[in-house]
Amino acid sequence: MRVGVIGIGHVGLPTAAVLAHLGHEVVAMDSDQAKLDSVVAGQMPFYEPGMQELVRSEMDAGRLRFTADVAAVAAGANVVFICVGTPPKATGEANLLAVERAGAAVVENATADVVLVEKSTVPAGTAERLTLALKRYKAKHRFWVVSNPEFLQEGKAIADSLHPHRILVGSNSQEALDMMRELYSAQIESGAHWIETDVATAELAKHASNAFLSMKISFANAMARLCELAGADVVKVADAMGSDPRIGREFLNAGLGYGGYCFPKDLAAFERLAEQLGYDFGLLREVKKINDEAVEATFKKVEEAMWNLQDKRIALLGLAFKGGTDDTRLSPALELARMLKEHGAHVVGHDPQANENAARELEGLDIAEDIYGALQGAHCAVICTDWPEFGELDLGKAHGVMAFPILVDGRNMLDPAAALAAGFTYIPTGRPPVGPAHEEPRDHR
Ligand code: UDX
Repeated sequence: MRVGVIGIGHVGLPTAAVLAHLGHEVVAMDSDQAKLDSVVAGQMPFYEPGMQELVRSEMDAGRLRFTADVAAVAAGANVVFICVGTPPKATGEANLLAVERAGAAVVENATADVVLVEKSTVPAGTAERLTLALKRYKAKHRFWVVSNPEFLQEGKAIADSLHPHRILVGSNSQEALDMMRELYSAQIESGAHWIETDVATAELAKHASNAFLSMKISFANAMARLCELAGADVVKVADAMGSDPRIGREFLNAGLGYGGYCFPKDLAAFERLAEQLGYDFGLLREVKKINDEAVEATFKKVEEAMWNLQDKRIALLGLAFKGGTDDTRLSPALELARMLKEHGAHVVGHDPQANENAARELEGLDIAEDIYGALQGAHCAVICTDWPEFGELDLGKAHGVMAFPILVDGRNMLDPAAALAAGFTYIPTGRPPVGPAHEEPRDHR
């Protein structure tokens, strides 16, 4: 089929590459000419494993083209994906102006009947509102707005899009649903679960999924606080809980909490939507509160260990909001860095992929080119992001270069016994700390 993709961000670019890989003829559009030029030259705008190779091979095969011209996307397209940004307004509500603009440009330039796909996360009701709005523009052909939420995770975007567990499409038109089913026929035949609903249900299901996963993480973080008070181990609690298939072990990892551009933004938009609909979804506010407390709790651990934070050198291992990406948007690591800096600490960070983005986002943050450079002379190190290399830290080497052997593990990546044996004071999240200062039971708890 002929497919258009508008917006080549974290959702649009992997979507375009994967649809081309499925055999469709894809034209991807972005208004940022410099971004387009660099993608065409083989330089991806963000780090995503496997994406550079896939984009190159699909371009070479002639199935994937890039343009800055929206008319070129709309011309002849059967399906156009809208993957533009929906940034939050001050109220938490999603700003949908870019969605309307993209939709209008497509219906005005379409040369055949076209399905417009909402791929950006949008509040329930958007498809209906967009349909109404687009009817005011000069459409020469029929169009349908369908919801096809993405569930891809950054860092796994290509793998998730190539082999989705589920494909959810919501539309009130059977004709549009049939076109979408045809678009994804190869993946459905390979076992992806096809779920067809009305449009509002699909939109709501996307919000519900992200909110539920955020809630799971916040539950684990609340358990971490409780375990610290009770002297219990949150990792073992999560293992025990997660072994019940009704609960599941995934997304029960306590730590610095969730960040990134999806969960915080979607949760705020979902709460706002509920409010507009007349439902007080107080649970979502608690989820956010617990998440905010997760960074504060880690900050307090560093502060307590340092006693005086002023002029202490604190090394942050990991700056991205999670491992596997260079994305630092709403990264808990940067939030922690801000708090430490506000208290006079000298913060130096290292991330395998996100150094540049972090330096751009947080003025005055020192960046080290490698892990041990960050640890050099540090009075305390904090593991902020779950990159596998931090779990494989050479503890002897780390001990050798640090000023004080103090490790705060904000992602529970290290083995407490190994950290203790290497001579560290090791302060994990929701697990008993170990080390010289913690040999005796802490009677102040
Ligand atoms: C998320 C959803 O998973 C995806 O389905 C949706 O389409 C977009 O939003 P993403 O933002 O890429 O994807 O990240 P994800 O892997 O879900 O992690 C979100 C955050 O939660 C990260 O900051 C991560 O570190 C944190 N997290 C995750 C935890 O703190 N604990 C966990 O157990 C799991």
